Amino acid sequence: MTDAGSLVAKGARTASSAPRPAGDATPGGQADGAPAIRLLGVRKSYGALAAVDGVDLEVGRGEFFTMLGPSGSGKTTLLRIIAGFERPDGGTVELAGADVTRDPPYARNLNTVFQDYALFPHMNVLDNVAYGLRVRRVARAERRRRAQAALEMVRLAGRGDHKPVQLSGGQRQRVALARAIVNEPEVLLLDEPLGALDLKLRQEMQLELKRIQREIGITFIYVTHDQEEALAMSDRLAVFNQGRIEQLGAPIDVYEHPATEFVAGFIGVSNLLERSGRCLTVRPEKIHLLVGGASPPTGSHVESGHIDAVTYLGPITRYVVALDTGERLTVVRQNLDVAAGESIETKGQAVSVAWQDRHTYEIGAEAAQLAKPTAKAKKEAK
Ligand SMILES: Nc1ncnc2c1ncn2[C@@H]1O[C@H](COP(=O)(O)OP(=O)(O)OP(=O)(O)O)[C@@H](O)[C@H]1O
Ligand SMILES: [Mg+2]
Repeated sequence: MTDAGSLVAKGARTASSAPRPAGDATPGGQADGAPAIRLLGVRKSYGALAAVDGVDLEVGRGEFFTMLGPSGSGKTTLLRIIAGFERPDGGTVELAGADVTRDPPYARNLNTVFQDYALFPHMNVLDNVAYGLRVRRVARAERRRRAQAALEMVRLAGRGDHKPVQLSGGQRQRVALARAIVNEPEVLLLDEPLGALDLKLRQEMQLELKRIQREIGITFIYVTHDQEEALAMSDRLAVFNQGRIEQLGAPIDVYEHPATEFVAGFIGVSNLLERSGRCLTVRPEKIHLLVGGASPPTGSHVESGHIDAVTYLGPITRYVVALDTGERLTVVRQNLDVAAGESIETKGQAVSVAWQDRHTYEIGAEAAQLAKPTAKAKKEAK
C-alpha cells in the first residue's frame, strides 16, 4: 500500500491548526510524554442521570483503544465530549497534552466516524472523501491525490465516481472511514462503525480497520457493545457500566481476570460459583466435560451434575451443566470428533466437570463491586 502510506508520509500535515505537542511526537511513541488523550474526572449529567460519572483515562499515541459497555453506559456521551460536541459538567479533556475542554470540535485535531456514515448523497465518493480537504482549501490536485490514496487504503479505488446510493452498506462505511482518514487527524473516534453490517462483513472490516490503524499509526478510540469485536481489535479496552469505567486493561487481562461480576458477565459467560464464601468464575472453555465415566485430567477439581441444555454451534457445542450444588455452568467443547447428533443426545445425562484451580478466578476479592474500579484498573494497567 505505497500510495496509502504516502497519505501520512508526505510531510506537513494540513489537517488542522490545532496545537501539536512540542518534541518528536511520532505515532506509537510518546517522546514528549503526553498521551494522545487524557481525561480527568469527566462528568456529564442529563437531569438526574449521570451519563458519564467521573472518568479518568489516558490513551497512548497510536493505541487502538476500545470503550465497551452495554447500551446506555455512557460510551457515546464520552466520545462526544472528547470530540467537543458535548461540554462536560466537570473534569478536563486533554489532547496531546493540551487542554481542549473548552475548544469547539473543529479546533481539535481529531475526526469522528459515526454509525450512520452521513455521506453527502449528491456528491460522488471521491468528493465525499475530499470534502474535509476542500473546506480547508487544500489545492484541487492535492485533494484528489490524497482522496484517491485514502480510497485505495479502504480498498475502494475505482469507485470514486460512484454516488453513495450505488454502494453497499459496507462500502459506504469504508467511504466514511476514508473521509475521516484523509484529514490525517491525531485521533480517530469511531462510534459503533460496524454496527449496521452483517457478521461476515463486520469481521472483514474489523481486520481492515486494524490493518489501516497499524499502517497509519493514528490513535483509534473505538466504541462498541460487541465484546468479541473489542477483544479482537483492541490494544486495551475499558468496560463501561453506568457512566463509569468498571475495568481497564488488555483484552486478555480483562477476559481472564475480570475485576467484577459485571465484567465477568458482560465479557463472555460469567460462570459464577460460590465456594467457601468466595465468589469464583471459570470460563466455559477451561472446563472439561467428562461423559461416561471419563477420568479427569490430573490435578483438576471435579464436580458432578447433569446436562441441562445443549446447543450445537458448528465448530463448538455449548452445554449448560446443572451441578449437584444447584449452580449452573456453561461449558463449551470443540467439535473435534463429536458428531452433532451425538452431542444433542447427551441432554439429561449425568456428567462430571473438571477444571484446574489456576483457571478459577476470584471476583471482588477487595469488594471491587462497590469501590474504585479505576484505581484497580490503573493497578492492572501497570
Ligand atoms: N441528549 C441527551 N439527553 C438526555 N439523556 C441523554 C442524552 N444523551 C444521552 N442520554 C442518556 O445518557 C445515557 C448514556 O447514553 P449514551 O448514548 O452515552 O450511551 P451508550 O453507551 O452510547 O449506549 P448505546 O450502546 O445504546 O449507544 C443514556 O441513559 C441516555 O439515555
Ligand atoms: Mg452509543
